[in-house]
Amino acid sequence: MPKPLKKAVMPVAGLGTRFLPATKALAKEMLPIVDKPLIQYAVEEARAAGIEQFCFITGRGKTAIVEHFDVAFELERTLQERGKQAVLEELRAGAVEPGSISTVRQQVPLGLGHAIWCARTFIGDDPFAILLPDDLMQCEVSCTKQLADAYLETGGNVVAIEEVPRDKVNRYGVLDVLEDKGRLVSVKGLVEKPPVDKAPSNLTVIGRYVLMPEVIGHLAKMERGAGNEVQLTDGMAKLIGHQPFHGVRYEGRRFDCGDKAGFLEAQIAFALARPDLADAVRGFLPRYA
Ligand code: UTP
Repeated sequence: MPKPLKKAVMPVAGLGTRFLPATKALAKEMLPIVDKPLIQYAVEEARAAGIEQFCFITGRGKTAIVEHFDVAFELERTLQERGKQAVLEELRAGAVEPGSISTVRQQVPLGLGHAIWCARTFIGDDPFAILLPDDLMQCEVSCTKQLADAYLETGGNVVAIEEVPRDKVNRYGVLDVLEDKGRLVSVKGLVEKPPVDKAPSNLTVIGRYVLMPEVIGHLAKMERGAGNEVQLTDGMAKLIGHQPFHGVRYEGRRFDCGDKAGFLEAQIAFALARPDLADAVRGFLPRYA
């Protein structure tokens, strides 16, 4: 029986340059899709997978993310006094257990691998999930839960994967496939941002992972990879052959909210999924088509 999965690491230390000037003073992860910030979607997805402890890897200008998960007494009292029960309940539903959020500072953004290494004390000897909040998932079963279930089946490392068009593989971490069993794919190698003609497949890793703590020892070597950054993909690749390593074709949709077009598409998709907004959105959309 694999060790229970109770921890999640959420890197939020990136600069968000693609969303400037909006992200000059506001963390990218606080940008809302409809009325909820990206970071809250990620926390709710993780909670639906049984995650109980969260570690945000933060940097300068990210304090609002931590504030967001605090209890706002004055606001709650005012809502109560004004009889705004529904909003109050919505607010409370997003709350987390006291003491369940920790933060560490990355200090210098040396890459995703470096960001994860910064959480080494939080991780300790336990398996952990990673959620990149820019990747917003719309899934019937929480994407992290799909990974957690696969982890119970296979043990070891499990990453969410999707197929992308061949000419786009150079933007992602790409799988070298040992055996493709449909939902589960066993992996014999991983390459970060390979040139299109050298990519071993068009199966790519998205921003959801369940990893074993041993990855930290590899990241600690601080070897620079693609883009001269410490790449998580390179650290994960070193686990292959020593521990099980699988990709999971998750069920659902991903929106790349670190990208403007992806962010706008997510607004539409999430609004259309809301009973209180769907009709209004359907009403105005044709005017822009
Ligand atoms: P991105 O590649 O989207 O970078 O990072 P970014 O800085 O956030 O955004 P742009 O490209 O400048 O617009 C992917 C994820 O990894 C985190 C980011 O916060 C995001 O969740 N990250 C990246 C770190 O935490 N630290 C890093 O050094 C790099």
